[in-house]
Amino acid sequence: MVQAHKLYINGEWVASESGQTFTRINPATEEPIGTFQKANEKDVRKAVDAAEEAFPEWSETPPPKRGKILLKFAQLLEQNKESIAREMTEEMGKVLLESRGDVQEAIDMAEYMAGEGRRMFGYTTTSELKNKFAMTIREPVGVVGCITPWNFPVAIPSWKLMPALVCGNTIVFKPSSDTPRCATRFVELLGKVGVPKGVVNLVTGSGELVGDAIVKHKKVRMISFTGHRETGGHILKEAGIKKISLELGSKNVIIVMKDANLDLVLDGVVWGAFGTTGQRCTAASRVIVNESLKKHFEKALVERARKLKLGYGLEKGVHVGPLVNKNALEKVHNYTEIGIKEGAKLLTGGKRFGKKGFFYEPTVFTDTSPQMRISQEEIFGPTTSIIAAENIDDAIEAANSVDFGLSFSIYTQDINNAFKAIKKLESGIVYVNAPTIGAEIHLPFGGVKGTGWGREGGWTAVEEFTNEKTVYIDFSGRLQRAQIDTD
Ligand code: UN1
Repeated sequence: MVQAHKLYINGEWVASESGQTFTRINPATEEPIGTFQKANEKDVRKAVDAAEEAFPEWSETPPPKRGKILLKFAQLLEQNKESIAREMTEEMGKVLLESRGDVQEAIDMAEYMAGEGRRMFGYTTTSELKNKFAMTIREPVGVVGCITPWNFPVAIPSWKLMPALVCGNTIVFKPSSDTPRCATRFVELLGKVGVPKGVVNLVTGSGELVGDAIVKHKKVRMISFTGHRETGGHILKEAGIKKISLELGSKNVIIVMKDANLDLVLDGVVWGAFGTTGQRCTAASRVIVNESLKKHFEKALVERARKLKLGYGLEKGVHVGPLVNKNALEKVHNYTEIGIKEGAKLLTGGKRFGKKGFFYEPTVFTDTSPQMRISQEEIFGPTTSIIAAENIDDAIEAANSVDFGLSFSIYTQDINNAFKAIKKLESGIVYVNAPTIGAEIHLPFGGVKGTGWGREGGWTAVEEFTNEKTVYIDFSGRLQRAQIDTD
């Protein structure tokens, strides 16, 4: 018997009005890990009502007090780090070492945002008039819909829920249907550290029903979404007048210059392209290599890719886990076929691994042009393509020739090339001599172009989850007219 899970609405664990459930399976063993409620619009309405009702009191709770609750949450997460990490590996497949990192990212975010309870700075500034004072203060946005993906099933909810909570918002949280159990654990722990009822509500189920109902609900004032680009487009169409933050994936790149330290590059490319089985918005799915290094680099990368051990992420010595589900496996393989048809050369991988579980061999293409579909579209799997470039300008042009821009990287020992790349790469994040993955929670995270807008993490998260109120205080005792009485 697998465990049955419920929705969390107004501080209670309840069954969905739909009377229906769905089952999540372990992507490595294909065995069921739990059943979850298939919520519908009625459940969403109840969750939004609960969040709205909880808002006045929560938004008036002093922010340092809200911060203290987050700190307790960080401590509880720390105590449960190992068990949550194991459950994460069971639920979505990433190897245990990475699952621990995922939970750690949430602990870091909770600690950082706890501190925001004592910062949350506004500005004071000058006034053009005498005896007049001007400043801004931060206020919560209201009920926030947080819609999260499965690839960082604890870290990404923390990116959204921690700043949203410390800023005084109340939340309706809809996790991916591939990771409802991690989301349930997350919310259970929030309940245990004293988040009042109604402040966080968990609604599991499909994007079409649950996600859509949250997005369209008039009382939801903000949507923070990470996931597919098509869904992002749909949200923009359906949400009405709301604050919206979108992180819609990317087609990241590692540029390798002639003078790069090649051992360092190989470590970086293997980690950037195959870490989390390539299922990161920050994955390095293109490597632009200086022409003179191409042959050597191809050979060395293939050697390294073939050495990676695939398997169940709870087992020792495994480097690469399965893809998240059968659809993902089909999608990734479809891109292999597209690459071959487009005339790219498959150097290694390109097929399913094993009979059970959704494993796919680390895959490397070369002789890839920047315009091929495998160089343009997000594959979200362990596939990377080598593109040759003659010089820094060619490399940057090829790097920027996609309609995404999240996390780009360059390996070089030349300071001029490094700064040129920092300046010219069209991405929200640039790494020098490090791969595309490894963002830290206290700096802004987000993209440009088709990746979307909004910044998560860092001090900017507080800007996202608040409205700034501008305040003028006139203590002159008479009418002073701005722009008019200025002499
Ligand atoms: C994502 O893939 O959506 O920098 C997030 C990284 C992680 C976060 C990835 N810290 O790869």
